[in-house]
Order: sequence, then C-alpha cells, then structure tokens
Amino acid sequence: MQSVGEQTYSQAVKEGKYDLYVGNLFGKYDNVRTDWEDQLNRIIFRPFLRDVVERRRRENQGVRIVDLGSGSGQGYEILTKIDRHDLDLGLQHQRILPESSIDWYLGLDISKAMVDKGQALFEDKSNVKFVQQDLREGLGKLKTEEDPFEIYFSSYGSLSHLSRQELVRLLQDICQHGANDSLIVLDLVGRYSIEWPDFWSATSEEEKMRDYTMSYLYSEPVRNQLNIETFPLRFWIGDEVKELAQELTADTGVGVEVIKLVDRSVLVGRHTDTREFNQNLKPIRRLVNSLHEDYLRTNLEELILTPDMVPNHPQVAPFLWQLIESWNILVRFCQKRLNNVMALQELEEWDHFPKPLQFALMTMDRVIADVGWMWYGDPRANIIEPQLGYALRTLEYEMQKGMGCGHGLVAILKIQK
Ligand SMILES: C[S@@+](CC[C@H](N)C(=O)[O-])C[C@H]1O[C@@H](n2cnc3c(N)ncnc32)[C@H](O)[C@@H]1O
Repeated sequence: MQSVGEQTYSQAVKEGKYDLYVGNLFGKYDNVRTDWEDQLNRIIFRPFLRDVVERRRRENQGVRIVDLGSGSGQGYEILTKIDRHDLDLGLQHQRILPESSIDWYLGLDISKAMVDKGQALFEDKSNVKFVQQDLREGLGKLKTEEDPFEIYFSSYGSLSHLSRQELVRLLQDICQHGANDSLIVLDLVGRYSIEWPDFWSATSEEEKMRDYTMSYLYSEPVRNQLNIETFPLRFWIGDEVKELAQELTADTGVGVEVIKLVDRSVLVGRHTDTREFNQNLKPIRRLVNSLHEDYLRTNLEELILTPDMVPNHPQVAPFLWQLIESWNILVRFCQKRLNNVMALQELEEWDHFPKPLQFALMTMDRVIADVGWMWYGDPRANIIEPQLGYALRTLEYEMQKGMGCGHGLVAILKIQK
C-alpha cells in the first residue's frame, strides 16, 4: 500500500511538533493555527456542538466522539475549549463542551507514533483512548463493538489522506453505525486554494489525488536541506462534498445532509510560505504569524497582495480577487491610519464595499483610536497588529463561500434515520 505520510508524522512526533501548543512564527502550532484556524473551527462547531450537548444533557448522558485520523488528540483540545459566544468580559471561561460532558473520546489513527503520543498526553483521562487503525478499511470492528457516536469528527485534512473511494466506504460505515442526528465533521484539503492553481482544473480522480508534502513544518533553511517525504492527498471542492452526501443517501438509504461548508485559510494556507506549488505567492502566512507575535512589528506594506497571484479561472478567480481587494483596502487603511494620514470618512466608494469590509474598517479605526495613545508594552505590536489579524480572519471567514478555496474545506454533515 502507498505511504500516507508515516515517515513525516513519526518524525514530527519525535521532534515534539505534535506536543500541544508549540510554535509561533512557523511549524505545526504557529500563530495562524492557534489564532485563526483552531479558533475558526471553534466558531464553526459552536452552534452544532451546543445542540448536541444540550440534547445529551436532556437524556442524562454525555457526548461520545470518535476522532478519525486523530493525531495525538488535537480534536479534543479544539472541542473542549469552545466558549459561549456571548461571554461577558467579567466572566471566566464557559465551555460549550466541558470535559465533564464527554462520556467517551476515541481517537483512531494509522500512526503508532501518534497513538502512543495521544495515550501519553491523555493518560490521566479514563474516558479518552487512542487506537491504531487504518481508516482506508472503514470503521472495522468498531461497527460491532461500539455504540453509535454523536460526533464522527476529523480535523486538519485527516480524511484527505483517503481516496474518494476509501472515503465513501468509511462514510457508508458511519451511516450504518451512526444514530439519528449524529454529526460527521469532514476536514478536507481544498482544491481551489491559491496554494496550487495547477490543481484547479483537475477532472479525473487521478488528477484530484496529488502528491503533497508537509515541508512547512520546518523553517526555510532546514527545509532546503532535508529530503522531505511526499504522499498522496485527495483535494476537494464544495460541490463534490454535496454530491458525496447525495450519493451516500442514495446508496445507504440513510439521509445525509450537508449543514455547513466552510473554506478555512483562504489566503494564509500553509504552502503560501513554502510556495512549493505556486511560485507567484507571497509568504502571507509568515506575515500574518508576525501580526500575532508580541513585540514584533510587521511591515504592513508586505501584506499588500497582488491579483496576479491568482490565475484567471471562471469559478475561483472572481471570488479571490474580491477578497484580495478587500484585504488590501483594510491593510492600506490601517497603514495610513497608523500614520495619521487618513480618516475613515475619506475612504472612497464606501457604499460599494462588502459589509464585512465596512465592519472591519470601522473596528480597526476604533482600535487604533482607542489604543494608539497607550504607552505600556508596544501597543502597535501587541494590540493593534493582532487585532488587524483578527479583522483579516473575520473578513476571510465572512466572505468565503465553502467552494474549496481554502487550504482546508470543513463540512458538517448530519445523519437522518
Ligand atoms: C494532518 S494530520 C491531522 C492530525 C489531527 N487530526 C490534527 O488535527 O492535528 C493527519 C492525520 O491522519 C492520520 N492518517 C493518515 N492516513 C490515515 C489512515 N489511512 N487511517 C487513519 N489515520 C490516518 C495521520 O497519521 C495523521 O495523524
């Protein structure tokens, strides 16, 4: 059988890259992963998870989760650290899924190194377990040995390691095993990402499965010296996920509805830095990592993006150009506002701006006005730039359409029986 990246993952675990919360400017837990991607996942899951927890509470039960391609338990960290949306400033955390609400969290992963790491990290929790399993063979004996789960979860591209056919098989097993209202979270790699325009026009299954590398785990000088493993991934677009759900319903007789589809990391995918698949890119992720880094001022001029990063393509280009234009307007405004050479009222064509851009501009105007006078720490590096990071993140999220234009394509599916 073909490699699914075992060498990459064993090596990464050995080097501590799968220890929780390591990173900053590059690597697995860089700032974009922590402040954009994990947080965005939490925003996406929050309303659905709240419904599941409340339903189980009414039934006097906790939540059962299986994490497919669990790594060393990153999904557990994402799901248990989601706060209520309307948390007052004076309150401590109020988690949607407190650890005490989890009856059973089962992590399945093909990599022994990951499973061992997960076991070690969660050794104090008797309701958490990691088991080595190859999901290309479906759910396996779990189908008969386990009760249904409320959530068949995956995070960060795990299920893109499977071909379409292998994923269909796994999902058929889940349809059979799951209960009414069980949720399936698919986290796939988006084919329409600016990171790899050469993949956009793929039509055959062979063209949709491409060799991939996680070279971004290493800093540039290290990356250039290593012989980094490549392995195949299946790249997905939103319409294909919708077709997949319809096909599953037709094949299994179980209703499968796509209830959420989100492009995650549209302009800040991991490979914007490596430029491994698109030489025209700027190292956007590194620049956004820098926005979120304390005591590091970012050269905002470098954050201005040029539309020529995006080749013409009828489905993809118009959306990406509009997002890039809005991104640039926001960055330019902050540059000028920081230098006191522009006020919000002077922005031309305001009425034509997308609503998320108007909101982001008003927010950054207030942030700079309210914080610029401070003299503790470095307000530009430590407050204004991270806020610009969050404003850009929100702009991206509110403008995305779930087409497959992000590095990640997150889909939430609901089973109806
Ligand atoms: C990108 S990592 C994501 C890990 C984790 N879910 C996270 O959020 O960081 C992908 C994971 O999928 C696992 N994987 C790849 N192919 C698999 C397969 N056929 N069966 C089970 N796990 C697999 C890898 O070992 C790896 O841990």
